[in-house]
Amino acid sequence: MSLAVRFDDIRKDFGPVRVLHGVSFELTPGRIYGLLGENGAGKSTLMKILAGYEAATTGTLLIDGQAQQFASSREAEAAGIVLIHQEFNLAEHLSIAQNMYLGHEKRRGWLLDDAAMRAEATRYLAQVGLKKPPDTKVRELIVAEKQMVEIAKALSRNARLLIMDEPTATLTPSETERLFALMTKLKAEGVTIIYISHKLDEVEHITDEVIVMRDGRFVARGATAGLARQQMANLMVGRDVSDMFPDKAAVAADALVALKVEGLVVPDWVEQLSFEVRAGEVLGFAGLVGAGRTEAFEAILGLRRRSAGRIEIGGHAVEVKRPLDAMRHGLTYLSEDRKGKALHVNLNLQDNLTLMTLEQYAHPLLDLKAGRVALKQAVADFGIRTGDLSSRARMLSGGNQQKLALAKFLQPRPNVIVLDEPTRGVDVGSKRDIYFLIHRLAAQGRAVIVISSELIELIGLCHRVAVMRAGRLQATLDLDHLTEEELIAHATGTH
Ligand SMILES: Nc1ncnc2c1ncn2[C@@H]1O[C@H](COP(=O)(O)OP(=O)(O)OP(=O)(O)O)[C@@H](O)[C@H]1O
Ligand SMILES: [Mg+2]
Repeated sequence: MSLAVRFDDIRKDFGPVRVLHGVSFELTPGRIYGLLGENGAGKSTLMKILAGYEAATTGTLLIDGQAQQFASSREAEAAGIVLIHQEFNLAEHLSIAQNMYLGHEKRRGWLLDDAAMRAEATRYLAQVGLKKPPDTKVRELIVAEKQMVEIAKALSRNARLLIMDEPTATLTPSETERLFALMTKLKAEGVTIIYISHKLDEVEHITDEVIVMRDGRFVARGATAGLARQQMANLMVGRDVSDMFPDKAAVAADALVALKVEGLVVPDWVEQLSFEVRAGEVLGFAGLVGAGRTEAFEAILGLRRRSAGRIEIGGHAVEVKRPLDAMRHGLTYLSEDRKGKALHVNLNLQDNLTLMTLEQYAHPLLDLKAGRVALKQAVADFGIRTGDLSSRARMLSGGNQQKLALAKFLQPRPNVIVLDEPTRGVDVGSKRDIYFLIHRLAAQGRAVIVISSELIELIGLCHRVAVMRAGRLQATLDLDHLTEEELIAHATGTH
């Protein structure tokens, strides 16, 4: 059942760029390993080599002492190695069950055995706690649900070594608990698990040992019990990262109301939502998945139908039918779904960055040089790690895609900035950079709204936090009442 892995001097080059510089370490079966490292450190790349999605340029992968070179993920899966991708790999137009068995269809004679696939899918969905019929189309699922489908799909492959690349980035605490229970059960059955996450509290909670990578190299490993969270963070970043949050500058008493929403109704999602945010203010939105936060802002931006609601930007009532109208009024929204909605992963970095502000670069011919300058500036400002400025967005590591998305949505220089899960998948050092950036934007007189599932982030960052539950605004907590207990009580309705 169990499976031992050894990486021996693994190198990986993408064209002229070396991203793994000779990585060596080994994994004992039946343990849960945390794999840590900054955005772009090479975690996903190393795991793709292990799972047959990429080939090492040089070096050897040994499985149970045997050198192995998987030609495809199918070969790796046949050897019991399954990777759950950081970025989802689902076909949107297919159903949950079809996705789970794509390429692994069950057959009865020559025919597809749909009934068997549906029945088995239902069983795995129950294990991960997703309450959706297996016939549901994937495009109808929210991000957290897609993540659960990915996990269910991996379970159906009977892995002996399971690699989870940031599986909880989109999950709620209770879904995460369920996943951890599942991981503990798999471990007891002898499955080795490699768990990649930037959530160090979870790493501390669930892993037996951590392995740290930096800049494409192995730097350290150690028993989780013997490492404090701060030590893990410092090892990853290679320097001390304390003081995560900037000081909160007071919002001027006479600051203008930058965005005011009154009586917003989004059918099936949001009931009578009213709030306002002032220039210089950082307003948080807390709530469980499904509370309607994302849906409310999608409706405000015209991405989703609203049946009532009045929107004022800078003191004037505005008509927003689509995101472009919002942008013209100085309001932008960075979606939590970076691959689906925020970036065009097949376009290059520059085209992504300048897409919302093309007018600035067209006089009348597209000024590519100016775009290039803007890209260089963004790469420096946001600390985007890329070996190659002309690469496509899909080549960036997950956290670096998030930084690019942020840069893109700030290009139009909006006055009201709505960021939906802005630090998802971002490493500790870069998180701190983003927090400081948010406060710089506020200090310039912009209003920033942060939707986040990380309570510590909301508490550390925001002047006030609005809490939603089941489509309604439950409370708005000011600085004096901003505690985890209060937020949880309002979000869960136990107040
Ligand atoms: N197909 C590719 N072509 C070119 N460069 C790539 C490709 N895939 C990854 N890279 C580069 O390899 C480096 C390592 O990326 P990787 O995705 O392994 O990082 P990571 O540690 O998983 O980061 P994150 O925490 O952000 O997910 C990055 O600089 C990335 O841009
Ligand atoms: Mg990654």
